[in-house]
Formats: sequence, C-alpha cells, structure tokens
Amino acid sequence: MRGRLVLVVLLGFLAGTLGGVALLLLTRGAPVPEVQTSGEASIGGPFTLVDQTGKTLTDKDFRGRYMLIFFGFTHCPDVCPAELQVMADALSQLGPKAGGIVPIFITLDPERDTPEVVSAYVKNFGPNFVGLTGSPEAIAAVAKAYRVSFSKFYPNGEGDKSNYSVDHSTFLYLMDKNGKYVTHFGFGTPANQMAETLRRYL
Ligand code: NI
Repeated sequence: MRGRLVLVVLLGFLAGTLGGVALLLLTRGAPVPEVQTSGEASIGGPFTLVDQTGKTLTDKDFRGRYMLIFFGFTHCPDVCPAELQVMADALSQLGPKAGGIVPIFITLDPERDTPEVVSAYVKNFGPNFVGLTGSPEAIAAVAKAYRVSFSKFYPNGEGDKSNYSVDHSTFLYLMDKNGKYVTHFGFGTPANQMAETLRRYL
C-alpha cells in the first residue's frame, strides 16, 4: 500500500515536471505572428534607421527591391548567425537573381550594436548585406511594426547589468518592392527551400 502511494506520488511529480517542461518550451518559443490569410497582413511599416556606414536609411530607400529582413543582435551566440548564414546560402543559390533582394539585418540591441559593430558583423555573411541600427526608440518602433518580440535578460542576474543577452523572435520576413509583407520563414527553414520560395517572387 505504501509502495503504491509512493508510486502515485512519483507519477504525479513526473507528470507535473513534464507539463512544466512542455509549458516552458512552448512559452520560450517565439510567438507566431498572426498572419491574415486574406487582405493585407499588417506586418511591416515605415522605418528610419542607420546603416553600417552610418548613413540614415528609410524603408523607402529599398523600393523596387524585395527586402529579406531578419531581426537579431550581434552578440547572439547561435540563432542569429545560423539564420543569417541560411539567408546568405539561399541568396547565393539564386545566383544573379538575388540582386532583386536586399538581405537586411536589424539589430535588437542598439546599445551595443553601433554601426561599426554591425558593419563588422554583416561582412561575415556577404558584401550585399545591409545592417541597420538606430536609437532604442527607433528599434522598438520597427520591431513593433514587424511584430518582433524581444527582451533583455541577464544570465548572471540583475546584479551584473553589463552582461546581458536578448531573447527574440526568429522570423525572417520577405517584403515586396513596395515594402509590403509577402511571406515569412520560420527559424530552421533550409536554405534550398527558402531559395525555392524566393525564386517564385523574382
Ligand atoms: Ni539571435
């Protein structure tokens, strides 16, 4: 009887733990933007930011070309470099047609990601990459327009404010020649699949 009770308690504990882990995994994943299947999806909008050369650019500077936009931060240890590499690979698979698409990295960490830092970073992924930063307000505004969620967190606790990381959504957005939302890619989309989708719009 006692052994059975222990078993029941253990099973209950296990179920609770599994539930907790499942919940944690669910909540840690980036929220899926609500994309309307008909009509105009309200993702994107005007922005005024600073590129890796220090020049102020707006969304209008990209008219006539598709924008492939990823939001991240240069200190990101894994997700950002992986996704930017996928962008680079997909574009290289498109060959000369890739000229119709501008790959854009927008930082979510404007404090550390100055134009100089962004410049050194985007060079890793190709000469055609545009890296954008700006004031914290401008970054917050563009993130909101693209429904990108991000938040700072301190791995060593709030006591060490200089050491922080940024949790962020990992969607890659394709915007058309007029800056309107076309589609998005989830993190982990293989480069060849991305290239195939991009080819359909070129
Ligand atoms: Ni990242």
